[in-house]
Amino acid sequence: MSKIRDINLAGKGKQKIEWVRKNMPLLRSLEEEFKVTKPFKNLKITISVHLEAKTAYLATVMAIGGGDVSVTGSNPLSTQDDVAAGLSTYDGVNVYAWFNATPEEYKEQLIEALGDKPNIIIDDGGDLVNLLHTECKEFLPSVMGGCEETTTGIIRLKAMESEGLLKFPMIAVNNAQCKYLFDNRYGTGQSVWDGINRTTNLIVAGKNVVVVGYGWCGKGIAMRAKGFGASTVICEVDPVKSAEAIMDGFKVMKMSEAAKIGDIFVTATGCKDVIAGGHFNQMKDGAILCNAGHFNVEINIPDLEKLSVLVKEQRNNIMGYQMQDGRWINLLAEGRLVNLAAGDGHPAEIMDMSFSIQALSAIHMIKNHKEFGNHVIDVPEEIDNKVANMKLKAWGVEIDKLSDEQKKYFKSWQL
Ligand code: NAI
Repeated sequence: MSKIRDINLAGKGKQKIEWVRKNMPLLRSLEEEFKVTKPFKNLKITISVHLEAKTAYLATVMAIGGGDVSVTGSNPLSTQDDVAAGLSTYDGVNVYAWFNATPEEYKEQLIEALGDKPNIIIDDGGDLVNLLHTECKEFLPSVMGGCEETTTGIIRLKAMESEGLLKFPMIAVNNAQCKYLFDNRYGTGQSVWDGINRTTNLIVAGKNVVVVGYGWCGKGIAMRAKGFGASTVICEVDPVKSAEAIMDGFKVMKMSEAAKIGDIFVTATGCKDVIAGGHFNQMKDGAILCNAGHFNVEINIPDLEKLSVLVKEQRNNIMGYQMQDGRWINLLAEGRLVNLAAGDGHPAEIMDMSFSIQALSAIHMIKNHKEFGNHVIDVPEEIDNKVANMKLKAWGVEIDKLSDEQKKYFKSWQL
């Protein structure tokens, strides 16, 4: 039995789900395949992923494939109540989530979703895995394994694996090429700016944008900032990525320098306190701060609160912090993922690829979990290639194939 905010919102939610369905041709073709093959028959699946329309469509595809699907969010601010209501009306799906749940309610929702005793989990950031290893150990026996969506979740899984604590296998979906090359780079690159622009309604051209972290997400965010006409600065701790950023045409400097000149700051490191303490003292009046990393720890909000004499909402989803000298610093979406907490997340065509990998990886886990042991498993190359081929087909693009002679040439070593 679903627990959502308001079932009267279901119509609007179903409209959103139908819109993304029309724009997710890969998942649509898997839906057709799963109607016949029923890969999830007699299996229970718990999904904890940002609960907006694309996630909802993935849940319905898994239900059509025979699964009993329980869905919860992976961040209280990214859950959309209309989508949760719409999704709860589909056969084979239970939803436990509402927007702006308190930390206690949010945890309760995850526990309820696990209470349906899943065989497979789809996690985003590691909350389900964490509970299954701590407060919800009683649900462990039925779990075959699962899939993890994001970089931060995989870092945590690898830490558990190396300490010998992981109790079931997990597939590192984020590390598939068809995930990070597209979702983290182009998806985050576009949707972060969608979130910032719709929330602030300010111009980006001519501004100094500071992107912290030049990984896959940071590269996408910086690339699009440049496209908007911003003067873009990168802050990094990795020397190779710093050099790459310079060759890509960006300025690279320490945060203590960037803090003085930035108009808009975007963090995308997966690390904590990348903007903290003294940085706030150096910022310009009106500076805008936001985060694209998984957790709201990248901007040290307690430090910001300590330094401010007044905290006041400036506009929906923008909190202003006034410093002692009168300067205002603006924080978007409480420092949570700005593209999801202040937007609709990645474009549908991007999540089409990521979620096709999720669905195919879940099947890979069902078929092979006994051989995997309690390890973090890579997505096999065949799944990456299948999704890339489906994407090319959807675009109507054909590519050349290696001839037998060319294959032989690649394997030869003699002059
Ligand atoms: P990545 O590992 O490719 O890049 C992170 C970069 O940050 C690295 O280059 C690292 O050297 C740098 N970094 C780490 N600590 C730093 C520090 N203290 N100061 C400056 N740079 C630092 O990771 P990726 O894939 O770019 O993900 C970044 C974060 O974004 C993760 O938390 C991930 O889970 C999240 N994510 C968010 C998405 C969204 O929709 N907003 C989508 C995909 C990932």
